[in-house]
Amino acid sequence: MIYLDNGATSFPKPENVYKAHDYAFRNYGANPGRGGHSLARECARVIYNTREKIREFIKANSTREIIFTSNTTEALNQGILGVVSEGDHIIISKLEHNSVWRPVEWLRKNFKIELDFCEHDKEGYIILEDLERKIKKNTKLVVINHCSNVFGTMQNLSAIGQITRNKGVLLLVDGAQSLGFEEIDVQRMGIDMLAFAGHKGLLGPMGTGGLYVREDIILKPLKTGGTGSKSESPEVPAKGPERYESGTMNTAGIYALGAGVDFINEQGLDKIKSHKLNLLKRLIDGLEGIVTFYGPQSLENRGPVISFNLGDMASTDVAFILDTVYNIAVRAGLHCSPLAHKFFGTLEQGTIRVTPGIFNTIEEIDILIKAIKEIRES
Ligand code: ALA
Repeated sequence: MIYLDNGATSFPKPENVYKAHDYAFRNYGANPGRGGHSLARECARVIYNTREKIREFIKANSTREIIFTSNTTEALNQGILGVVSEGDHIIISKLEHNSVWRPVEWLRKNFKIELDFCEHDKEGYIILEDLERKIKKNTKLVVINHCSNVFGTMQNLSAIGQITRNKGVLLLVDGAQSLGFEEIDVQRMGIDMLAFAGHKGLLGPMGTGGLYVREDIILKPLKTGGTGSKSESPEVPAKGPERYESGTMNTAGIYALGAGVDFINEQGLDKIKSHKLNLLKRLIDGLEGIVTFYGPQSLENRGPVISFNLGDMASTDVAFILDTVYNIAVRAGLHCSPLAHKFFGTLEQGTIRVTPGIFNTIEEIDILIKAIKEIRES
């Protein structure tokens, strides 16, 4: 199979990630931080090591700012529900995934939260002046999707962070599609919270993800329960990752996620980015005039995601033929992001989405191009 659905989850993973997962599953079998025995302590150390790798990767100040979650959705829910109270105002972009849109709509419906959407230019880039204008006295939070999971539009986080910092509001970034592709420096960019997937660009296993939270921000925890510390208290710890990580953790997954970060560091982000963009360029050049591409015109501020349609064919029909006849896996339809589809006018047709990974080749893209041409002619 030619797998071009790395936006959903990256596959295959690097060999060292498979090996790490197997090793950890066999050797780090105790419950991290529960009980004082040496294997439990060793497992806690394994989790700490990955925390430190992530801290370094996003240039956070402290490992205490890195919370592990099961996926980006959980991280975004924790970030949003953790800071907002009745009467607050939230601004989100029009390209948000349902993991942002649904929690904020739920808040609006149930807790008298005000919600606004910032405006975008026609390629999907946020109009910064509009964002600045929309921030008002009770604005608590701005949530921005760094890279659209449907159209690949990549926002200028430094410029957005400067605005939110100047205005004294919190900035939560959805880095699901961008971490592992583009450098993110949370301190330099003025990011207060960053939600990320462990299993996409970071090349770890599914069931891993995380949230960076600047240390002075104390969130209401999404869940409470056992943390392996302060057991005598009816409440979870007052701060630190333990406050948000109740329950047994995914030690093997987190250890393997650390191996994914090691792999990226060895390769270098520049190399990974240019490889993925080269594949997208090949696809654009090969299908120019044959399909309708959406989103940014240039590759410069685009993430590793591209969407297109073939005439007026249903995107799901094209993807079905690609899968069943050509053995090519792409995602089609609505990509859990109806806001983005509405913005680009593809709510009815959906889109065929191609998200190349580090192991895809130019030859595979050429096979996809040939397949699309054949489908058009059939
Ligand atoms: N949010 C993931 C995607 O875009 C699952 O496919």
